[in-house]
Amino acid sequence: MKNTIQNTLQVWHIPLTAQESMLGPLLSILTESEKKIAAQFKFEKHRRRYIVAHANLRIILADQLKIPLNELDIATQEKGKPYITDNPLFFNLSHSEDLAVLAVSWQGNVGIDVEYIKKDISTLEIAQRFFHPLEYDQLKNAVPEQQTEFFYRCWTGKEAFLKTTGLGVANYLQSFALDIQEPNITRLIYTSDELKEFEKWHVYIDKPSNDYLSTIVSTIEPLEHNPPLIYPQNLITGWEAHS
Ligand SMILES: CC(C)(COP(=O)(O)OP(=O)(O)OC[C@H]1O[C@@H](n2cnc3c(N)ncnc32)[C@H](O)[C@@H]1OP(=O)(O)O)[C@@H](O)C(=O)NCCC(=O)NCCS
Repeated sequence: MKNTIQNTLQVWHIPLTAQESMLGPLLSILTESEKKIAAQFKFEKHRRRYIVAHANLRIILADQLKIPLNELDIATQEKGKPYITDNPLFFNLSHSEDLAVLAVSWQGNVGIDVEYIKKDISTLEIAQRFFHPLEYDQLKNAVPEQQTEFFYRCWTGKEAFLKTTGLGVANYLQSFALDIQEPNITRLIYTSDELKEFEKWHVYIDKPSNDYLSTIVSTIEPLEHNPPLIYPQNLITGWEAHS
């Protein structure tokens, strides 16, 4: 019999700011191949974000599985989606600027995307290039004060759906369209035959702070009625940067 935590999707907000003195201990948690990736970043802030995100990912997953950190074995699918070998725990990670978000589910597959909200980007130009025409039209017809929010709901929603499949984002952006006018994107207004399973999935929009918007997709849990358990605190570095 699973406990409550195992029955509910969990979302972790992980601030990627860390004291320099914490980086050594966090780095020691990473695998040799993750350490190599960390060493290749040109900019210190990107290296720091990678180390903090992946160390926290390992701590949280090992804790869920009740196994020592060095026994956690993360592999990747063909298109890069990480998964835990020989275990039914599903997870997906996303990061943007100084925040990572991690969705963890014992029930079924999940996808998550977070974006830092830039107020000065050309939302319509980007939408015309990447979004489905039905999404672009909603954005174009939105009142100016809603455009940024609609844009990020659509962006993170599309990525979260596609990250759930693990198929990669690039080839499928035009294969489905979201209703971005609803406060929660619970409805798809178009799906190609190939992506019909999307119609059964569940969506939740999370706002970790005023600067970020995140969308979570679950193949099992009805998130509209049973919202995820959200853990805003970071295990190690605290939440100072966004308080
Ligand atoms: C991973 C991908 C699917 C999303 O990239 P992203 O939004 O830049 O990155 P996110 O921070 O949300 O997610 C990255 C994490 O997802 C996980 N991931 C990697 N490949 C994945 C895949 N195919 N499916 C699901 N998750 C994946 C990894 O944990 C990765 O973390 P890491 O890079 O630190 O190891 C990327 O391959 C991609 O296709 N990006 C294109 C983005 C784009 O053009 N969007 C158009 C606007 S809608």
